[in-house]
Amino acid sequence: MEKMWQGRFNESSSKLLEEFNASISFDKELFEYDIKGSIAHAKMLANQQILTNDEKEKIVFGLNQILGEIREDKFEFKIEDEDIHMAIEKRLSEIIGKEIGGKLHTARSRNDQVAVDFKMYVMDKNLEISNLILNLISTLNSIAKNNLDTLMPGFTHLQHAQPVSLAFHMLAYANMFKRDFYRFKDSFERNSFSPLGSAALAGTPHNIDRFFTANELNFKSPTSNALDSVSNRDFALEILFNISVLFMHTSRLCEELILWSSSEFKFIEISDKFSTGSSIMPQKKNPDVAELIRGKTGRVYGNLISLLTTMKALPLAYNKDMQEDKEGVFDSVKTAISSLIILNEMLKTTKFNKDNLLKACKMGHLSATDLADYLVKEKNIPFRQAHFITGKCVSLAESKGLDLSEISLDDLKSIDKSIDEKALDVLNLQNSKEARKSYGGTANESVRKQIVEIDEFLKNSQI
Ligand code: ARG
Repeated sequence: MEKMWQGRFNESSSKLLEEFNASISFDKELFEYDIKGSIAHAKMLANQQILTNDEKEKIVFGLNQILGEIREDKFEFKIEDEDIHMAIEKRLSEIIGKEIGGKLHTARSRNDQVAVDFKMYVMDKNLEISNLILNLISTLNSIAKNNLDTLMPGFTHLQHAQPVSLAFHMLAYANMFKRDFYRFKDSFERNSFSPLGSAALAGTPHNIDRFFTANELNFKSPTSNALDSVSNRDFALEILFNISVLFMHTSRLCEELILWSSSEFKFIEISDKFSTGSSIMPQKKNPDVAELIRGKTGRVYGNLISLLTTMKALPLAYNKDMQEDKEGVFDSVKTAISSLIILNEMLKTTKFNKDNLLKACKMGHLSATDLADYLVKEKNIPFRQAHFITGKCVSLAESKGLDLSEISLDDLKSIDKSIDEKALDVLNLQNSKEARKSYGGTANESVRKQIVEIDEFLKNSQI
């Protein structure tokens, strides 16, 4: 079959080359953007009197017909057409004739065409993912609102450390996802410039209006340098990076959900709707969703490293290596969208076992630091000595099979007679959580501020 670029060739391509070279099997994903970009380009060409109005009308008609054909699955994607851009252009000429169809590519190259299509895709998906992040933050904030007084152990080294509230713990994640949201937003702003009209690498002698097409396609303005515009894939790398950091966060959340649903923790019960069974062990209920999201972090990181490596040391401008830019992005985007949707639904239906969370707080002497702080503040004992005395109290509690928060005043006095009634208050777990009124701390008044902050962020960030 004759190629669009056949002119200077005497022999036709090998079948092997056709298959190896083609990207249509995956870049067909871009068809909506390709058609949108071509319509904007045709309108601009007509405005600039490079096309007549009639030619433009025919081109737009043909492109819209192709849009319908692809949407309705009536379009035949052929490997010989190489990529989505040439497949659409060829079909256009079939519909409206070569004479006019052949004029669409005036003042444009596939190099700026693919760059603008891919950028529009990435920016659309950026907004879709950003919205899903907002939904997730909203769910975390709702859990927080309902659990200001739900005590749970805070951990360091995965060892019980200090009492916190479930609200406080959920808000830690809300803040991570808030930064993720802003990362996507920053990328959107930074990349909102249209490469269309950069042509192959050097611009064009035709009198085009790149500001018009940029505006038609919802970009802020055209990119400044044609050579950079067709060489650039930073926008694709940014979405891959943003998704990678997002997944680093979701993988930490999912890891905790997996741990918390185990018999050792029993902090949560993931609803039946989002759990799976075992083919051999009838009693099993597995947290597959959380494990899969944790696991998918691997492919998401892989896609980032893969494109970074592809782009490394590529000479300017377009090189065919860059055709390798799409599949990883499509994969990470789909992975992010499906994972965020299911994670949000799963969280909404997860039950937190308040009794077990509290029971866990009574293991590990979570308020020990409070006793040491009390000895420093109330009894003017140097911190090192206070640490030692508290250690003794812990050891006594352990020998009696008690948590430090359950020890009697007499027992405390047997270690240091200066200890008084107030120590019991200080050792109380709720009081320990409430004592940390520092900005960003665990006390309810402080956590309420964090909730309000997230509410305001959600209110101001709707897309
Ligand atoms: N299919 C190509 C890609 O995805 C389109 C650009 C081709 N440009 C070229 N000069 N061969 O990268």
